[in-house]
Amino acid sequence: MWENNDIKEVLITKEQIEKRSMELGRQITEDYRAEGRAPLLVALLRGSVPFLSELIKYIDLDIQFDFMDVTSYVGTESQGDIKILKDLDGSIKDKDILIIEDIVDTGNTLSTVCKTMYLKGARSVKIATLLNKPSRRATGIEADYIGFNVPNEFVVGYGMDFNQRYRCLPYIGVLKEDCYK
Ligand code: IMP
Ligand code: MG
Repeated sequence: MWENNDIKEVLITKEQIEKRSMELGRQITEDYRAEGRAPLLVALLRGSVPFLSELIKYIDLDIQFDFMDVTSYVGTESQGDIKILKDLDGSIKDKDILIIEDIVDTGNTLSTVCKTMYLKGARSVKIATLLNKPSRRATGIEADYIGFNVPNEFVVGYGMDFNQRYRCLPYIGVLKEDCYK
């Protein structure tokens, strides 16, 4: 495993993420197949990209994916409203959307993104997130597919960053406090 001096503790290993992504991919396949549908995956840039690429290996359906980039984060504190930096390329009218996210924290980002999807005419909207921080939730939003629940600590790696760093770590770790204070 790669060493990084800024990481206090490894929370979730690469092997655990791969195994869990396989389980989630199979579950997603089963659920949508039962409905006779295939979702359009909407991955939120940039943190969800490693999870997206792992997950799609195990979704055995005629899926497509698109990207959206929204922001609400300055440093480590989430704010209420979001800004769309990059919108979807294609129409989502009457489509079944599966949002792919790295982490649901307060839930503010996702609740706004979900509303936007319905306004654009989506038929259904579900959420798959690699990580979930339930202790910080400020909205009623819950993900349909959750990789792992994590404690209220600032985590990085496997897509997740602090000021754009650490995204490429192959595991999820807790960042040492003196790295972001
Ligand atoms: P929310 O709107 O508070 O749910 O924030 C969601 C977004 O904040 C996620 O998509 C992440 O980009 C970012 N975020 C929240 N918690 C963490 C963390 O512990 N590490 C890195 N990014 C985080
Ligand atoms: Mg994000």
